[in-house]
Amino acid sequence: MTAPAPDTSTPPLSPAAAVAAARPGRVRPRRLRGTAALRRSVSEVRLHPADLVLPMFVKEGLEEPAPIASMPGVVQHTRDSLRRAAAEAAAAGISAVNLFGVPLTRDAVGSGATDPDGVLNRAIADVRAEVGDALVIQADLCLDEFTDHGHCGVLTADGRVDNDATLERYAEMALVQAEAGAHMVAPSGMMDGQVGVIRDVLDAAGRDDVAVLAYAAKFASVLYGPFRDAVESTLEGDRRTYQMDPANRREALREIALDIEEGADLVMVKPAGAFLDVLAEVAAVSTVPVAAYQVSGEYAMVEAAAAQGWLDRRRAITESVLGIRRAGADQVLTYWAVELAHWLREEWR
Ligand code: PBG
Repeated sequence: MTAPAPDTSTPPLSPAAAVAAARPGRVRPRRLRGTAALRRSVSEVRLHPADLVLPMFVKEGLEEPAPIASMPGVVQHTRDSLRRAAAEAAAAGISAVNLFGVPLTRDAVGSGATDPDGVLNRAIADVRAEVGDALVIQADLCLDEFTDHGHCGVLTADGRVDNDATLERYAEMALVQAEAGAHMVAPSGMMDGQVGVIRDVLDAAGRDDVAVLAYAAKFASVLYGPFRDAVESTLEGDRRTYQMDPANRREALREIALDIEEGADLVMVKPAGAFLDVLAEVAAVSTVPVAAYQVSGEYAMVEAAAAQGWLDRRRAITESVLGIRRAGADQVLTYWAVELAHWLREEWR
């Protein structure tokens, strides 16, 4: 006869006994969440108006600011309304404005981009005259708003984007933007070598004072959709031969390293919200300040949900920007910059 198997089943544990056994009493992270003052005293990231940069659109020949359907609350500015809005941005305490121009006529090489009287260059001069050095004036340096085909560069005879011919146009654009009064030029076209060429041409012209904000890791994202309405883009197809594949994180680090080597003063990750892992890695290794662009589609999604009553608008905006800062961005480009800056000031009072 064999002996009965020993009883290995554990006796049932009462909920009270389970709690007693786990003894959570000593270590209680909730202790620091008990009041607003406690929470505030230990928050790891704080938002400040100085973190924020406002992207702005100005359209040639407008009489009145024109709303952008897919970006409720954002407008295409007239020359005058742009100046007023820039002054308000300065008063709100944000750091910078990033200017995009919408011309009335376009051609194959984007001539309007290098015309000192073109819409963007006049806007740069207008804003500089209005706010002086109170804001950093960043100029979008790209051809897509100015070309009739809508690509960020000039095309070869067989319709591909010609990298090195485009760099020549970017170099000309940098000089005109510097002359117009930009403190910083922001090449956003993802051409290879764009930062180095721009740095060299500015330096040779004695404009080593003008900084380069490099769109270093810019992904070919669906989230630019509303922006294309804002600038009345004529693009057919996509930008996948020059912007990055959204699948690639390692490649982002390569782009960042190249741009820093070429002399970028800041590097950017774009879009922000869907690429926070990339942003965090970039922030961990970058030797220069890191910007992140909360793009038009990120804006539109929150506005649409809030308009339906599906999200608390103010909390959604605040949390989304906080997340971008927490991931490591030093500056956040966001269409909510001025409104958010006002909320932050309200909260200090
Ligand atoms: C290109 C440019 C784009 C954006 C900024 N610069 C559009 C694109 O690459 O197609 C998008 C910004 C946004 O979506 O808010 N000059």
